[in-house]
Amino acid sequence: MNILIIGSGGREHALAWKIKQSSKCERIYVAPGNGGTESIATNLHLNLEDFQEIADAITEHTISLLIVGPEEPLVRGLVDFLNEEKSLKQLKIIGPSAKGAQLEGSKEYAKEFMIRHKIPTAAYKTVTKENLKETLKYMEQWEPPYVLKADGLAGGKGVIITEELEEAQRSLTQLIANKKFGKAGEKVLLEKFLSGLEVSFFVITDGKDYQILPEAKDYKRIGERDTGLNTGGMGAVSPVVFADRDFKEKVNKQIIKPTIEGLQKEGIHYCGFIFFGLMAVNGQPYVVEYNVRMGDPETEVVMPRIKGDFLKLLVAAADRSLAEREIEYEKFTATTVVYVSQGYPEHYEKGHEIIIGDTKAALPFHAGTKMEEGKLITNGGRVIALTGLGESLKEALSKSYAGGDEVHWEGKKFRQDIGFDLKALGQ
Ligand code: AMP
Ligand code: GLY
Repeated sequence: MNILIIGSGGREHALAWKIKQSSKCERIYVAPGNGGTESIATNLHLNLEDFQEIADAITEHTISLLIVGPEEPLVRGLVDFLNEEKSLKQLKIIGPSAKGAQLEGSKEYAKEFMIRHKIPTAAYKTVTKENLKETLKYMEQWEPPYVLKADGLAGGKGVIITEELEEAQRSLTQLIANKKFGKAGEKVLLEKFLSGLEVSFFVITDGKDYQILPEAKDYKRIGERDTGLNTGGMGAVSPVVFADRDFKEKVNKQIIKPTIEGLQKEGIHYCGFIFFGLMAVNGQPYVVEYNVRMGDPETEVVMPRIKGDFLKLLVAAADRSLAEREIEYEKFTATTVVYVSQGYPEHYEKGHEIIIGDTKAALPFHAGTKMEEGKLITNGGRVIALTGLGESLKEALSKSYAGGDEVHWEGKKFRQDIGFDLKALGQ
């Protein structure tokens, strides 16, 4: 079968890499893709804002399965649009409708959903222009730190966490008055701070049944020891030592199952990935956020840890027969280290030539790269992720870094301490 993957990151490269191993896979297309996907698939230069252009490409390339990598097209209703197309009745799609995508598209919607279905999450209050004044006063009774979140999609940059009451009050006022995040900032959530260990769980669901993929931990901050600005993610590790059997059972029972059942009860047909961003607070899982897609760079460690034919699992999800499937994990540890452009996540340059040596110690998953006139050049903040596989965290990391040593461009930056907290926990 022919497959189209929407997106251009390391996530999409890792999905294409895994799917290509299936005997059922004929041709893979990635739109728009990157310099890495070009070597294992065909990149299509589609405008992702133009759903008709995507529909036409699906027909032209006789695509049987569509996988939507990023959240934006989902929240904007790509799946609803394609489902309406009479000529695409046979198309299998991995990705929810706009309604389902609201779990990520609106943090307030996600919170209300969790409350309706008794899913553990931090207490919160929605703030708008109307109740801003009273909230500023009411915050005086909250214990710091203060967590502020723009309601809508803000590309991972819509969260402010501060210890200072005055700073929190100022930020909240600015968020609402200045609409710092545009439409996404018209509503802001003031949330209780959860203190604990972060871990991400992923499921693929057909709307009724689900399979849990390997868990992962990502490293969002730019600086060593989790300091500095938030990024899309600077590295990831799977498995995660503190997510033991007991914890996984709690996650399944208290979070995953009620989420899938909640979607069903509300009549939202959901076929796709759900990413549960969790905080383990004294061994109890709480939902920090839902995403309606796989994580990046988490996918770069999750895919290598899935045993067997992932494409068959995706097809089963689209055909609503996931109950008949069993997912198996590889026992080894996978780590990924993301190599980024100097200046990221703020201003950075593009267009530097990338020279890649012998990276066979690790799997290279490209993100911000592109081929131009026969040369591979940088084309984004996060440039390439190197995934190492090993018997231990230490071995996997040494392979990630050995792979990274073989990749060169002007201004290459990376975190040297991926997994530091897990090492401290004995992993
Ligand atoms: P989000 O965009 O909701 O994933 O938030 C980004 C990051 O902020 C999360 O990965 C957490 O590290 C942190 N965060 C968000 N909400 C909370 C919370 N209620 N308590 C503690 N940390 C949080
Ligand atoms: N790495 C976090 C995310 O994909 O949202």
